[in-house]
Amino acid sequence: MCGELRKAHVGQKVFLAGWVDRRRDLGNLIFIDLRDHTGMTQVVVSREKDPEAHEKGEQVRSEFVVGVEGEVLERSAETVNAQVATGEVEVRARRLLILNEAKTPPFAIEDETKTAEETRLRYRYLDLRRPRMQERLRLRHRAALAVREHLSEHKFVEVETPFMTRSTPEGARDFLVPSRIQHGKFYALPQSPQLFKQLLMIGGTDRYFQIVRCFRDEDFRADRQAEFTQVDIEMAFPEREALFEIIEGLMEKLWALAGVQIERPFPHLTYDEAMERFGSDKPDLRFGLEWRQIAVPAAAREKLRLFESLKAMRLPKLAEISRSQLDRLQDFARTTSADWFSYFKVSGRGIQSPLGKVIGDEAVKALAEGIGAEPGDLVLLLGIKKSGTTSPRTTRSSADRRLDEASGVLRLEAARRFELIPKGGWHFAWIVDFPMFEFDEKEKRFNAMHHPFTSPQEEDLEKLESDPGDVKALAYDLVLNGSEIGGGSIRIHRQDIQRRVFKALGMTEEQARARFGFFLDALEYGTPPHGGIALGFDRIVALLSGESNIREVIAFPKTASAVDLMCEAPAEVDSRQLDELGIRIK
Ligand code: AMO
Repeated sequence: MCGELRKAHVGQKVFLAGWVDRRRDLGNLIFIDLRDHTGMTQVVVSREKDPEAHEKGEQVRSEFVVGVEGEVLERSAETVNAQVATGEVEVRARRLLILNEAKTPPFAIEDETKTAEETRLRYRYLDLRRPRMQERLRLRHRAALAVREHLSEHKFVEVETPFMTRSTPEGARDFLVPSRIQHGKFYALPQSPQLFKQLLMIGGTDRYFQIVRCFRDEDFRADRQAEFTQVDIEMAFPEREALFEIIEGLMEKLWALAGVQIERPFPHLTYDEAMERFGSDKPDLRFGLEWRQIAVPAAAREKLRLFESLKAMRLPKLAEISRSQLDRLQDFARTTSADWFSYFKVSGRGIQSPLGKVIGDEAVKALAEGIGAEPGDLVLLLGIKKSGTTSPRTTRSSADRRLDEASGVLRLEAARRFELIPKGGWHFAWIVDFPMFEFDEKEKRFNAMHHPFTSPQEEDLEKLESDPGDVKALAYDLVLNGSEIGGGSIRIHRQDIQRRVFKALGMTEEQARARFGFFLDALEYGTPPHGGIALGFDRIVALLSGESNIREVIAFPKTASAVDLMCEAPAEVDSRQLDELGIRIK
């Protein structure tokens, strides 16, 4: 291969094939850098010694595919290239074969590229020739092997589940496939194999996994694709801690691929704690900034009586931050779901704050004392105004949740702006005890926070009807450096409870039967307790490669608007095809 030749090969006859990375024509000598995914070798063609090869050498251009037969020579000391692994040798071409020609590529095939992503995606096959992309694909392959090996060791078996199935729980975001044989009927591509893996447990498979493509027609971002890959896992007779251990073991093996030894066991944070302290259910724990819910001090109560909920965060050693930076942060805070933002700085000279004018210096001092601010601290404050709306009780009120959301966004933004995120470091955590339901203010009803097959916690069962907002689920997420890399739960295995959960979600008996009848039936035939998790494989590989965008680790990804720029999908189809499917376009 092009990256393999070393000094030890000097004198050997070799045959190399690859792409012409660069050609330099010095008249009597032509140098060709020949490249494949393993690296590059310099090939020399001499007019004097090998006239036929030289003639071919004059014809080749970048990205031509060529074969070279020749012999490995040692380079003289002055011509050694210490930058490349093959830099001590070169290959003298006795024969040169042009296997194929190439048009001039729209961008240079090299790691450092400023080429627009659109162009890279349109010519993905060229983009993939870049060594870095090759490394990522190969890392992804090794990660998949590690998954299969680890889970097989733990007696999980890989089972394939259908891609053509029926519209699922979160139905609104299904990709549909029309049936040709039964006009008006549709298959749906699975958003996840959730029901099938549960059916496998009922079917006695006991421990299942699958590296599986999932399809979701949702809003796409840097960490979301319309089709993405999960490591989907389910086990019968589960114990949460045993499952966590298996998953942590897997993470250990995956991070070992990147030469990193991770710390175990991963800390556990409850959902409420994560929301209150970090304003996020996927907190970035690489840095320690934490919010605290605060009570309005008596002195400020009159002025701040409009506020239902307040939160404060200390940023040690940032009291010197400039006014203009804080103004810009304030502009940012206005874009969040909070109603109010303020701050104060604590220094040896006392407390400085625009808030002083509003609530008085005494009240600011009381606030500072209340949260234990120390000299050198910058303290950020966020508030939510009282709202007149009444929604059913949930573990955190809707004002709290709005404040949590804003505080989470602001925490990340402040950390980014003030450069508080350390480079390197892997901070895994399990987020546990999620609420079972979340209240949809617009639709005025409860939705399942994970999915409707998640088991409520035993002690909350009696509240399913009376106080659904207060029911906690046996659900958990795995988070890493601010990214949700997995989610799962212990499932409902009793039909009566499954019915009650559907009912709490506002589904009538008939609706539940129409959508999940087959599943409700299956639950009646001896369903073992079971539970599992699904890991976001693309996100994991992206993190492992130090990439923030999962497109970088997917061979043929789609854009943020779910378009494949290379093959131009989605595309129109001709009317004959539509006729056959019984479909007319409005
Ligand atoms: P969930 O919806 O949380 O759970 O998905 C599991 C994990 O998959 C990843 N993920 C995505 N990655 C890329 N693009 C997307 N559009 C996308 N959506 C999700 C995330 C997420 O944590 N059936 C349940 C799992 C279970 O309960 O066992 C499920 O699918 O990393």
